[in-house]
Amino acid sequence: MASHSTVPTALWKSLFLQHASKQEDPYMAVATVERDSQNGSSIPRVRYCGFRGFFGELKLHPSAEKQLRDENELNPLEFESDMLAFTTDTRMQKIEQFNEFDGAIEVVFWVKEVMTQWRLRGTAFVIGDDAKKSVEQTARAEIIKGLRKRPSQASTVSEWTWEKEITAYFANHSPVMRGSFKNPAPGRPLSEEPTDPNLKLGQKVTDLHDATARENFRVVVIRVHEVDRLDLTRPERASRWRTTLTDASDGVGQWEEVELWP
Ligand SMILES: Cc1cc2nc3c(=O)[nH]c(=O)nc-3n(C[C@H](O)[C@H](O)[C@H](O)COP(=O)(O)O)c2cc1C
Repeated sequence: MASHSTVPTALWKSLFLQHASKQEDPYMAVATVERDSQNGSSIPRVRYCGFRGFFGELKLHPSAEKQLRDENELNPLEFESDMLAFTTDTRMQKIEQFNEFDGAIEVVFWVKEVMTQWRLRGTAFVIGDDAKKSVEQTARAEIIKGLRKRPSQASTVSEWTWEKEITAYFANHSPVMRGSFKNPAPGRPLSEEPTDPNLKLGQKVTDLHDATARENFRVVVIRVHEVDRLDLTRPERASRWRTTLTDASDGVGQWEEVELWP
Protein backbone atom coordinates (compact mmCIF):
# COMPACT_ATOMS: atom_id res chain seq x y z
CA MET A 1 0.00 0.00 0.00
CA ALA A 2 1.54 3.33 -1.03
CA SER A 3 1.54 6.98 0.14
CA HIS A 4 0.32 7.02 3.68
CA SER A 5 -0.47 10.25 5.44
CA THR A 6 2.24 12.49 6.78
CA VAL A 7 -0.32 14.69 8.55
CA PRO A 8 0.72 14.87 12.21
CA THR A 9 -1.73 13.46 14.79
CA ALA A 10 -4.64 15.87 15.00
CA LEU A 11 -4.36 18.47 17.76
CA TRP A 12 -7.86 17.63 18.96
CA LYS A 13 -7.63 13.84 18.94
CA SER A 14 -6.45 13.00 22.45
CA LEU A 15 -8.94 15.33 24.16
CA PHE A 16 -11.72 14.09 21.90
CA LEU A 17 -10.91 10.47 22.79
CA GLN A 18 -10.74 11.36 26.47
CA HIS A 19 -14.23 12.87 26.20
CA ALA A 20 -15.70 10.12 24.01
CA SER A 21 -14.48 7.51 26.50
CA LYS A 22 -16.74 9.08 29.15
CA GLN A 23 -19.69 7.73 27.19
CA GLU A 24 -20.40 4.06 27.60
CA ASP A 25 -21.70 3.71 24.07
CA PRO A 26 -21.00 6.90 22.08
CA TYR A 27 -23.54 7.98 19.49
CA MET A 28 -23.22 10.91 17.14
CA ALA A 29 -25.74 12.86 15.12
CA VAL A 30 -24.71 12.52 11.47
CA ALA A 31 -25.71 15.30 9.10
CA THR A 32 -25.75 14.98 5.33
CA VAL A 33 -27.25 16.89 2.41
CA GLU A 34 -30.06 15.53 0.24
CA ARG A 35 -31.28 16.66 -3.17
CA ASP A 36 -35.04 17.30 -3.02
CA SER A 37 -36.55 15.18 -5.79
CA GLN A 38 -39.42 17.67 -6.28
CA ASN A 39 -37.52 20.90 -6.89
CA GLY A 40 -33.83 19.96 -6.84
CA SER A 41 -33.02 22.11 -3.81
CA SER A 42 -30.51 20.93 -1.18
CA ILE A 43 -32.00 19.93 2.15
CA PRO A 44 -30.33 18.82 5.40
CA ARG A 45 -30.79 15.32 6.84
CA VAL A 46 -29.65 14.14 10.24
CA ARG A 47 -29.74 10.84 12.15
CA TYR A 48 -27.90 9.10 14.99
CA CYS A 49 -25.19 6.55 14.33
CA GLY A 50 -22.86 4.59 16.62
CA PHE A 51 -19.29 5.94 16.74
CA ARG A 52 -16.91 3.05 16.00
CA GLY A 53 -13.65 4.76 16.90
CA PHE A 54 -10.85 5.89 14.61
CA PHE A 55 -10.32 3.93 11.41
CA GLY A 56 -7.40 1.50 11.72
CA GLU A 57 -7.72 1.43 15.51
CA LEU A 58 -10.82 -0.71 15.95
CA LYS A 59 -11.20 -2.02 19.49
CA LEU A 60 -12.53 -5.54 19.08
CA HIS A 61 -14.89 -7.27 21.48
CA PRO A 62 -13.19 -10.43 22.84
CA SER A 63 -15.65 -12.70 20.98
CA ALA A 64 -15.02 -10.89 17.68
CA GLU A 65 -11.27 -11.04 18.19
CA LYS A 66 -11.47 -14.78 18.88
CA GLN A 67 -13.57 -15.46 15.78
CA LEU A 68 -11.24 -13.38 13.58
CA ARG A 69 -8.16 -15.09 15.03
CA ASP A 70 -9.69 -18.57 14.64
CA GLU A 71 -10.57 -17.80 11.03
CA ASN A 72 -7.14 -16.30 10.34
CA GLU A 73 -8.67 -12.91 9.56
CA LEU A 74 -7.15 -10.75 12.28
CA ASN A 75 -5.32 -7.70 10.89
CA PRO A 76 -2.13 -6.59 12.61
CA LEU A 77 -2.42 -3.19 14.37
CA GLU A 78 -0.48 -1.40 11.70
CA PHE A 79 -2.19 1.96 11.31
CA GLU A 80 -3.65 4.86 13.20
CA SER A 81 -5.68 7.80 11.95
CA ASP A 82 -7.78 10.81 12.85
CA MET A 83 -10.67 9.50 10.73
CA LEU A 84 -13.92 8.60 12.48
CA ALA A 85 -15.67 5.39 11.46
CA PHE A 86 -19.22 4.13 11.58
CA THR A 87 -21.01 1.24 9.91
CA THR A 88 -24.08 1.38 7.75
CA ASP A 89 -26.21 -0.34 5.13
CA THR A 90 -25.62 0.54 1.49
CA ARG A 91 -29.37 0.71 0.94
CA MET A 92 -29.79 3.65 3.32
CA GLN A 93 -30.27 7.15 2.00
CA LYS A 94 -27.09 8.63 3.39
CA ILE A 95 -25.10 6.60 0.83
CA GLU A 96 -26.80 8.27 -2.12
CA GLN A 97 -26.40 11.63 -0.38
CA PHE A 98 -22.63 11.09 -0.09
CA ASN A 99 -22.53 10.23 -3.79
CA GLU A 100 -24.42 13.36 -4.75
CA PHE A 101 -22.61 15.82 -2.48
CA ASP A 102 -18.98 14.67 -2.64
CA GLY A 103 -19.14 12.94 0.73
CA ALA A 104 -20.17 16.10 2.61
CA ILE A 105 -20.72 15.24 6.26
CA GLU A 106 -20.81 16.79 9.71
CA VAL A 107 -21.17 14.86 12.95
CA VAL A 108 -21.87 16.20 16.42
CA PHE A 109 -21.39 14.77 19.92
CA TRP A 110 -22.71 16.28 23.14
CA VAL A 111 -20.63 14.96 26.02
CA LYS A 112 -22.58 16.13 29.04
CA GLU A 113 -20.07 14.58 31.46
CA VAL A 114 -17.59 17.28 30.41
CA MET A 115 -20.16 19.83 29.16
CA THR A 116 -18.61 19.86 25.71
CA GLN A 117 -20.03 19.78 22.20
CA TRP A 118 -17.80 18.44 19.43
CA ARG A 119 -18.72 19.17 15.81
CA LEU A 120 -16.53 17.49 13.23
CA ARG A 121 -16.82 18.32 9.57
CA GLY A 122 -15.23 16.35 6.77
CA THR A 123 -15.58 14.06 3.79
CA ALA A 124 -17.13 10.60 4.03
CA PHE A 125 -15.67 7.66 2.11
CA VAL A 126 -17.65 4.43 1.95
CA ILE A 127 -15.91 1.03 1.77
CA GLY A 128 -17.05 -2.58 1.85
CA ASP A 129 -18.01 -3.21 -1.77
CA ASP A 130 -16.19 -5.42 -4.28
CA ALA A 131 -12.49 -4.44 -4.37
CA LYS A 132 -12.55 -4.59 -8.18
CA LYS A 133 -15.04 -1.73 -8.49
CA SER A 134 -13.52 1.64 -9.29
CA VAL A 135 -15.67 3.50 -6.72
CA GLU A 136 -14.35 1.19 -4.00
CA GLN A 137 -10.78 1.64 -5.18
CA THR A 138 -11.15 5.43 -5.19
CA ALA A 139 -12.57 5.43 -1.65
CA ARG A 140 -9.71 3.25 -0.38
CA ALA A 141 -7.13 5.48 -2.09
CA GLU A 142 -8.62 8.54 -0.38
CA ILE A 143 -8.65 6.84 3.03
CA ILE A 144 -4.97 5.91 2.66
CA LYS A 145 -4.18 9.63 2.61
CA GLY A 146 -5.38 9.81 6.20
CA LEU A 147 -3.77 6.58 7.47
CA ARG A 148 -0.53 6.78 9.42
CA LYS A 149 1.77 3.81 10.00
CA ARG A 150 2.27 3.17 13.70
CA PRO A 151 5.93 3.98 14.46
CA SER A 152 6.68 0.51 15.84
CA GLN A 153 5.33 -1.08 12.67
CA ALA A 154 7.31 1.04 10.23
CA SER A 155 9.47 -1.75 8.85
CA THR A 156 7.28 -4.86 9.09
CA VAL A 157 6.13 -6.73 6.04
CA SER A 158 2.45 -5.97 5.84
CA GLU A 159 -0.21 -8.60 6.35
CA TRP A 160 -2.81 -5.89 6.74
CA THR A 161 -5.64 -6.02 4.19
CA TRP A 162 -8.72 -3.94 3.54
CA GLU A 163 -10.86 -7.08 3.47
CA LYS A 164 -9.77 -8.12 6.96
CA GLU A 165 -10.33 -4.61 8.28
CA ILE A 166 -13.87 -4.38 6.89
CA THR A 167 -14.63 -7.90 8.14
CA ALA A 168 -13.45 -6.84 11.61
CA TYR A 169 -16.10 -4.10 11.72
CA PHE A 170 -18.72 -6.68 10.70
CA ALA A 171 -17.42 -9.18 13.29
CA ASN A 172 -17.63 -6.52 16.00
CA HIS A 173 -21.43 -6.46 15.63
CA SER A 174 -23.60 -8.98 17.48
CA PRO A 175 -25.20 -11.76 15.37
CA VAL A 176 -28.53 -9.90 15.54
CA MET A 177 -26.98 -6.63 14.38
CA ARG A 178 -25.20 -8.49 11.57
CA GLY A 179 -28.61 -9.91 10.68
CA SER A 180 -30.02 -6.39 10.24
CA PHE A 181 -28.02 -6.18 7.02
CA LYS A 182 -30.39 -8.88 5.72
CA ASN A 183 -33.50 -6.89 6.58
CA PRO A 184 -35.93 -5.89 3.86
CA ALA A 185 -34.79 -2.61 2.24
CA PRO A 186 -34.62 0.09 4.97
CA GLY A 187 -36.99 3.00 4.46
CA ARG A 188 -39.26 1.23 1.94
CA PRO A 189 -43.00 0.78 2.67
CA LEU A 190 -43.95 -2.32 4.63
CA SER A 191 -46.36 -3.16 1.80
CA GLU A 192 -43.35 -3.81 -0.48
CA GLU A 193 -42.61 -7.46 0.21
CA PRO A 194 -38.99 -8.31 -0.65
CA THR A 195 -38.66 -10.64 -3.63
CA ASP A 196 -35.37 -12.03 -2.28
CA PRO A 197 -36.22 -14.74 0.30
CA ASN A 198 -32.94 -14.02 2.14
CA LEU A 199 -34.32 -10.65 3.27
CA LYS A 200 -36.25 -10.99 6.55
CA LEU A 201 -36.37 -9.21 9.88
CA GLY A 202 -34.78 -10.67 13.02
CA GLN A 203 -32.13 -12.94 11.50
CA LYS A 204 -28.94 -13.91 13.35
CA VAL A 205 -25.74 -14.08 11.34
CA THR A 206 -22.66 -15.90 12.63
CA ASP A 207 -20.91 -16.38 9.27
CA LEU A 208 -18.59 -13.37 8.79
CA HIS A 209 -18.93 -13.76 5.03
CA ASP A 210 -22.70 -14.20 4.78
CA ALA A 211 -23.20 -13.15 1.15
CA THR A 212 -26.42 -11.17 1.55
CA ALA A 213 -25.40 -9.32 4.72
CA ARG A 214 -21.96 -8.46 3.38
CA GLU A 215 -23.43 -7.20 0.13
CA ASN A 216 -25.24 -4.52 2.13
CA PHE A 217 -22.70 -3.88 4.90
CA ARG A 218 -20.49 -0.79 4.62
CA VAL A 219 -17.95 1.10 6.71
CA VAL A 220 -18.04 4.88 6.44
CA VAL A 221 -14.75 6.66 7.11
CA ILE A 222 -14.76 10.39 7.76
CA ARG A 223 -11.64 12.37 6.85
CA VAL A 224 -12.09 15.33 9.16
CA HIS A 225 -10.95 18.79 8.10
CA GLU A 226 -12.57 21.04 10.69
CA VAL A 227 -13.41 20.62 14.37
CA ASP A 228 -15.50 23.05 16.42
CA ARG A 229 -15.32 22.46 20.18
CA LEU A 230 -17.65 24.32 22.53
CA ASP A 231 -16.93 24.03 26.24
CA LEU A 232 -19.82 25.06 28.49
CA THR A 233 -18.17 24.12 31.79
CA ARG A 234 -18.27 27.77 32.93
CA PRO A 235 -21.61 29.23 31.82
CA GLU A 236 -20.43 32.81 32.30
CA ARG A 237 -17.39 32.23 30.12
CA ALA A 238 -18.02 29.53 27.54
CA SER A 239 -15.00 28.65 25.42
CA ARG A 240 -14.87 27.71 21.78
CA TRP A 241 -12.10 26.59 19.45
CA ARG A 242 -11.97 25.92 15.73
CA THR A 243 -9.25 23.56 14.54
CA THR A 244 -8.73 23.40 10.81
CA LEU A 245 -6.61 21.19 8.60
CA THR A 246 -4.99 23.31 5.95
CA ASP A 247 -4.61 21.96 2.42
CA ALA A 248 -4.84 18.26 3.24
CA SER A 249 -6.11 17.02 -0.12
CA ASP A 250 -2.94 15.02 -0.73
CA GLY A 251 -2.43 13.70 2.81
CA VAL A 252 -0.05 16.46 3.88
CA GLY A 253 -1.18 19.52 5.81
CA GLN A 254 -1.12 21.19 9.20
CA TRP A 255 -3.72 21.57 11.96
CA GLU A 256 -4.31 25.13 13.10
CA GLU A 257 -6.32 26.06 16.17
CA VAL A 258 -8.06 29.40 16.75
CA GLU A 259 -9.99 30.36 19.86
CA LEU A 260 -13.35 31.91 19.00
CA TRP A 261 -15.92 34.02 20.74
CA PRO A 262 -18.42 31.43 21.89
C1 LIG B 1 -29.06 4.86 18.92
C2 LIG B 1 -29.06 4.66 17.42
C3 LIG B 1 -27.92 4.17 16.80
C4 LIG B 1 -27.89 4.00 15.42
N1 LIG B 1 -26.74 3.57 14.82
C5 LIG B 1 -26.66 3.53 13.47
C6 LIG B 1 -25.42 3.24 12.83
O1 LIG B 1 -24.39 3.00 13.47
N2 LIG B 1 -25.43 3.23 11.47
C7 LIG B 1 -26.53 3.51 10.73
O2 LIG B 1 -26.46 3.51 9.51
N3 LIG B 1 -27.72 3.78 11.32
C8 LIG B 1 -27.81 3.81 12.67
N4 LIG B 1 -29.01 4.11 13.27
C9 LIG B 1 -30.20 4.31 12.43
C10 LIG B 1 -30.13 5.72 11.81
O3 LIG B 1 -30.44 6.69 12.80
C11 LIG B 1 -31.08 5.88 10.60
O4 LIG B 1 -32.39 5.54 10.97
C12 LIG B 1 -30.61 4.99 9.44
O5 LIG B 1 -29.23 5.08 9.29
C13 LIG B 1 -31.30 5.39 8.12
O6 LIG B 1 -30.92 6.69 7.77
P1 LIG B 1 -30.76 7.20 6.27
O7 LIG B 1 -31.73 6.45 5.42
O8 LIG B 1 -31.02 8.67 6.34
O9 LIG B 1 -29.36 6.91 5.83
C14 LIG B 1 -29.05 4.30 14.64
C15 LIG B 1 -30.19 4.79 15.28
C16 LIG B 1 -30.20 4.97 16.64
C17 LIG B 1 -31.44 5.53 17.29
